[in-house]
Amino acid sequence: MDPTIRWLEDDLQAAHANIVQYLWHAYRFGEGELAAEIEEIAREEMRHLWWLAETIVRRGGDPSLARGPLVRQDTAAGFLRWAVSREEADLERCRQHRDQTTDPAVRLVLDRVIADEVHHRQAFQELLTAVENGTLTLAPRPATVPDGLAETVALLNQAIRFEYTAVLQYLYQSFFVTTDCDLYRELFNTQAQESMKHLGWLAETVAALGGEPLLEFDPIDRGRDPARFLAINLRLEEEAVRLYREWLPRLADPRARAVMERIYAQEQHHVREFQLLHQPTSAGLTVGSLFGRPQWE
Ligand SMILES: [Fe+2]
Ligand SMILES: [Fe+2]
Ligand SMILES: [Fe+2]
Ligand SMILES: [Fe+2]
Repeated sequence: MDPTIRWLEDDLQAAHANIVQYLWHAYRFGEGELAAEIEEIAREEMRHLWWLAETIVRRGGDPSLARGPLVRQDTAAGFLRWAVSREEADLERCRQHRDQTTDPAVRLVLDRVIADEVHHRQAFQELLTAVENGTLTLAPRPATVPDGLAETVALLNQAIRFEYTAVLQYLYQSFFVTTDCDLYRELFNTQAQESMKHLGWLAETVAALGGEPLLEFDPIDRGRDPARFLAINLRLEEEAVRLYREWLPRLADPRARAVMERIYAQEQHHVREFQLLHQPTSAGLTVGSLFGRPQWE
């Protein structure tokens, strides 16, 4: 295996683990400034994941999108202390990888990641100081799920699993859309971000109800034929609409229902978007059949 791809895979798996462990702790420590700052860092880790995976694809590899091991801390200070050392380790590893490669495209990506990691380490350090000297107060979460809400929490966690898998599915596809199809890269990236947003709302609701957000995912469709992407995605969005419609009346908490209703409305819109793109044109072609071809001739 190309050794550069192996390093990039290590960096990618670390970024993937960071997204999840940062979000998990953000939800656990409640709403407010701390959670908002951690979520912002998690979004940047998602961009790292995307850049690293795209670089692997450009070098002829197939990004695993696997996740490195997760860490859990019981207190905000414990988490922040660990996060500072985590960013330090990421920084060190990425610097080594940058110095080992002569590929200017890889260096460019790693330089960008390194600049973010320097900022992340600093941001976590400042949050740690604020928590330690009591200038940052935390909104405590309930520790147990009230009677009668176990099914609600279980359904929200199933929805989290669905959205998490959708994030990875859309990200994966976006790497294989050729650069002359910017419209579709944009579309798949937007869809990945929408799914990430849904995941966030659901996980926050689970934590607010005293539950533990289960951040797990199912295997994605690793087909690389762009002509099939629209059909896969239309099925995925139709499945979301079907599941959320079925689950909505079973949610026993008004906040949970409001969140799922909002997501459900957005999924209906996603279905319409993909239906429209999948429809044959007068020339008998679907817009999807233009994948990988120049958009302007
Ligand atoms: Fe990162
Ligand atoms: Fe980072
Ligand atoms: Fe969604
Ligand atoms: Fe969707």
